[in-house]
Amino acid sequence: MNQGTLQSLLAADADKKRMEELRAFITYHNYRYHTLDAPEITDDEYNAAFQALLRLEERYPEWRSPDSPTNRVGGQVLSSLETKAHTRRMYSLDNVFSDEDWQGFLKRLENALPGVEDTFWCDPKMDGLALELVYENGRFVEALTRGDGEVGEVVTAAMRTVRNLPKVLHGEAPERLEVRGEVIFRRKDFAALNDRLRKENAKTFANPRNAAAGSIRQLDTSVTASRPLRFLAYGFGEVRFGGMPVWRTYAEVMERLQALGFETPPGGRLCRGSGEVEAYYASLAEKRESLAYEIDGVVMKLDDLEAQEALGYTARAPRFAIAWKFPAQQATTRLLDITVQVGRTGVLTPVAELEPVNVGGVIVSRATLHNEDEIRNRDVRVGDRVVVQRAGDVIPEVVRAVLSERAPDSKPFEFPHVCPSCGQEASRLEGEVAWRCVNVSCPAMIRQSLTHFVSKAGLDIEGLGQRWIELLVSSERVRTPADLFTLKVEELLHYERMGVKLATKFVDSLDRAKKDATLQRLLCALGIRHVGEQTAKTLAAAYADMDALRAADPEELQNLPDIGPEVAGAIKAFFDDKPNVELLARLKELGLWPVRRQTPETAQVAAGPLAGMKVLFTGSLSMPRSQAQRMAEGAGAEIVGGVSRKLNLLVVGDEPGSKLEKARTLGVRVVDEAGFLALLRAENDVSAGDSGNAAQDSEEGKG
Ligand code: IVH
Repeated sequence: MNQGTLQSLLAADADKKRMEELRAFITYHNYRYHTLDAPEITDDEYNAAFQALLRLEERYPEWRSPDSPTNRVGGQVLSSLETKAHTRRMYSLDNVFSDEDWQGFLKRLENALPGVEDTFWCDPKMDGLALELVYENGRFVEALTRGDGEVGEVVTAAMRTVRNLPKVLHGEAPERLEVRGEVIFRRKDFAALNDRLRKENAKTFANPRNAAAGSIRQLDTSVTASRPLRFLAYGFGEVRFGGMPVWRTYAEVMERLQALGFETPPGGRLCRGSGEVEAYYASLAEKRESLAYEIDGVVMKLDDLEAQEALGYTARAPRFAIAWKFPAQQATTRLLDITVQVGRTGVLTPVAELEPVNVGGVIVSRATLHNEDEIRNRDVRVGDRVVVQRAGDVIPEVVRAVLSERAPDSKPFEFPHVCPSCGQEASRLEGEVAWRCVNVSCPAMIRQSLTHFVSKAGLDIEGLGQRWIELLVSSERVRTPADLFTLKVEELLHYERMGVKLATKFVDSLDRAKKDATLQRLLCALGIRHVGEQTAKTLAAAYADMDALRAADPEELQNLPDIGPEVAGAIKAFFDDKPNVELLARLKELGLWPVRRQTPETAQVAAGPLAGMKVLFTGSLSMPRSQAQRMAEGAGAEIVGGVSRKLNLLVVGDEPGSKLEKARTLGVRVVDEAGFLALLRAENDVSAGDSGNAAQDSEEGKG
């Protein structure tokens, strides 16, 4: 045997072994994902393994195996639920990850069916649990999960609790209709569910998809009923039309499904030609974060159903449809260390120090671990491989550890009960998840609270960056915000890299901040718990100065809009704290003491056309909602967060959703955008000036 043959034999041997490994790997992770709803690896890693196996099977057809996961679509079936065979197999979808892959798909289509028209029904790929609903003569009779594609779990009772599922179809319905689609959680519903589970000290879900699967594959359907699930229809199985006209295009299918009463994936539409499909993909990729649902790509389905039939299926997926996936928002990496950060309120936050990893185009090297309980619940340990996730502007977080790769000698993380900055004992109050440093002179806390004080969210003091705060705090020249206002040009010159010019600018900008400070800004700058922009605004409008606010008792505070017992309690606690009282006394002495002024603007607001009215906007308006809100506030209205009997006016734009319904039931006055503008104008005819614009300008001026 010559050297070349030997080498290629060895290589083939390695490939064979690799194929076996990949099969075992994928089978295991299929089970974690589909059956246990508890994935350990990211979709990207799964996809990489899957694609690698597909490539090898193509190269070595002789080593294909009938039980290869490439011949199946997914999970096994949980024995506790009843199972049943699908009339028609529920396939999975093949994926493409780039424009190049997508062109490859088009080429395969053209090869398989020369001259096929490249018109596609495109809709978002929903990230939930795939399901089939069966309707007989227009009545919902059965629901099956996809299961392994051939056999699914019967989840009829659970699905009956899903609120947007039509129990009886609208209008004329086929004799038998199998509708396929996805059960999903909206992002905000998912967040609320996890919040609740966290409060109940129960296990939280890693993502909306797992939450949907966990909620449906339940023996106790009261659990399902308590969860705001939705079913979105995007396809069909067997259809016996009876006397009805047969569907010819996918666009027609979607139109009919909607007419029959189904909600369908939002934004689905027909795209003619590859260019339109690419533009659709790009626009959804951009909008992705702002959608109410989690989506992980776009699905393209050939519009011509006859052509679909001609193309048929591979072992696991249709040839006429493809999913074009978005870049992943998750990645795995090594957890190098857990450090603990001290926030300005003294909260100790555990931070994951990570081996830098690219997550959807951003390099992440630190991520939050939230608090002690979350670390314990997620059982994340130093040295683990962990899954990191980011979404939009949210701080990256560690989702879970990859348990199968955990070192045998790893130890659970011991959350420190002393402050890592000052070394003093930390405390954890009953009912709270956070440990706090309660040392008022903790340098980390001082640094953070000064940073907040001078930041845009506080007094917005120019030129006072992190480096200066660091220097001033470590030299112990500044311990509280008041100390800033005693800084003199001469003493600043002793600091490195500080010249006369810079020092003068520095002191000037502090002076200016002192003069320009409003009560609202100072309230924000002090970092009182639960007092953000909106609450500060309310308080500043109600009280003449800090002394007046300090004198107010919590019951009185609770008469103000949007201030409940918790906020009122936090304000009281702030003023009960001696160092805070001392700080305020010093600020007063130093001349940082804003008082409420009765400006022409506030006077006008008090007399505006919407004075004293609680107003809420819903649906999309022709102007940005923030602008409409400013106009309303300028006219004296107060913007509130939800519909209740106390609401005086609901302004509705396009696609208003459930708020409109609720307002109607409660008898709240409802106007559209034109009606709203008319209300503002009506008053301007009798009072002088344009209240809407005046309010807008003054707000922006402040910002
Ligand atoms: S169409 C004939 N459209 O993704 C094509 N599937 O990963 C049938 N999925 O098994 C599927 N959103 O469960 C289609 N807009 C959408 C979808 C979608 C999510 C699911 C489906 C499929 C899985 C493949």
